[in-house]
Amino acid sequence: MAQDPSALPPYFNIDTDAAQAELEAPTSTAGFARIAEACARGRADLASRGLDAEGRKQLRLFSTWEITRYLIPVAQAHFRRVLRANPELPQGVSDTEAGAKWFSLDEVLRLRAFFGAQGARSKNYLPYRPKGLPAKLVAVANFKGGVGKTSTAAHLAMSAALDGYRVLVIDLDSQGSMTSIFGGQVADEWKTAFPLLARHYGEHLRAENQRRLDRGEAPQPLDETLAAAMEMTAQDVIQPTHWPNIDLIGAQLNLYWAEFQVPVWRMAARGWKLWDALTDRLEADGVLDAYDVIFIDTPPALGYLTINGLAAADILLVPLGASFLEFDSTGRFFDMLHSTFASIEEGENMAARALGRPGLAFEWDAVRAVITRYDGAQQGELAALMQAYLGRTLSPHRQDFTALIGQAGEQVSGIYEADYRDFNRETYARGRETFDATYAAFKRLLLGIWRREELAAAETELAS
Ligand SMILES: Nc1ncnc2c1ncn2[C@@H]1O[C@H](COP(=O)(O)OP(=O)(O)OP(=O)(O)O)[C@@H](O)[C@H]1O
Ligand SMILES: [Mg+2]
Repeated sequence: MAQDPSALPPYFNIDTDAAQAELEAPTSTAGFARIAEACARGRADLASRGLDAEGRKQLRLFSTWEITRYLIPVAQAHFRRVLRANPELPQGVSDTEAGAKWFSLDEVLRLRAFFGAQGARSKNYLPYRPKGLPAKLVAVANFKGGVGKTSTAAHLAMSAALDGYRVLVIDLDSQGSMTSIFGGQVADEWKTAFPLLARHYGEHLRAENQRRLDRGEAPQPLDETLAAAMEMTAQDVIQPTHWPNIDLIGAQLNLYWAEFQVPVWRMAARGWKLWDALTDRLEADGVLDAYDVIFIDTPPALGYLTINGLAAADILLVPLGASFLEFDSTGRFFDMLHSTFASIEEGENMAARALGRPGLAFEWDAVRAVITRYDGAQQGELAALMQAYLGRTLSPHRQDFTALIGQAGEQVSGIYEADYRDFNRETYARGRETFDATYAAFKRLLLGIWRREELAAAETELAS
């Protein structure tokens, strides 16, 4: 609606009586519960639309065009020929006799394995992962909220899955956005990463108790929570998702409790290495062999859960927008990372030096800031400045702002779950290009790191 240029701006001439009449009674504490309940009902309504009979999310099908264009790089004609020649392979379904064939992702993965086993060696049918090396852990973190942590982590997880990797997603944010995206069902903290941390602490206490016994002192009993956690493995908290090769350790509000519980444990046992908790438990339960890439989404805060996620990570991605405020606050985030990890190292190394043991030194294979929601028309200059100051730490790929993401609802989370037929082809192609490029930049990092380790391992072998 065109505004009358002579009219006053809207914040003048507010009638106080009318404003008063619009007001409801003041809100009490119980008011929050009512609002929360209304949100929960609305959410349940949204979430129930288009779910399968069990109330689980379903992944869409993939067309021959999409498979040969994006997933298995072969000519469509060749793809069809191979399917015809191998009737035992998935043949796809179509709406009409002559219509395009559609496949589930599970079927795509089987087809990929087939092409990988048959095809020319040089082709990229199967994703690279050196034998014998553990999964890589990737944490996506920034204490600034809304910078695209969850969107980036979710899209990377989906791209990696489409690329054929076995992916685990760990949601450390009690807001549970990542859990919603992957349709996770999390009744309470016992289905989150919490029991893994608790068990790690419990193991520490047990070892302490053994030392007490050896000294002839009485052991300290584990409380109920710890005793319950001692029975739990990572497999107990990992749940499948509607993606055949993405599993999830979910989150929900109760996970926030860990932010209070962890420091209490740490106060009670100074020797507990809380920063090793996640890695140690994942390793002990074989998770690092069962998956190729593990993505950790973190809350917008540098609390204990984030520290655990960051300490576990091999690769740290720090999303930020190309705006002054986000650049500024990201600088302070790195400052906090420095002081937090330096103080942990210092505390440990004082004790280590006294005992003549090797010190603790955290190390990350790679740390990359990633520009998200980039608007080239407005932010080119600022992004170039950020690039000049951050150098290699800033990924050269900028993730464009794309309307396709904002539209993602409860059922369809982001570009890879969306059916391209719902969009104008060009809009779809542009949105997809943005996140394909984000993945390509990440994959380059991942492969480079794996290759570095593979070469180092070969060298050690030669030397021995
Ligand atoms: N490339 C993009 N283009 C357009 N919108 C985006 C893009 N990436 C993220 N967004 C939108 O920005 C908002 C914040 O994104 P997201 O939830 O991923 O941030 P976050 O850092 O995880 O937030 P929080 O700190 O609350 O966990 C969301 O509405 C999301 O849809
Ligand atoms: Mg988030």
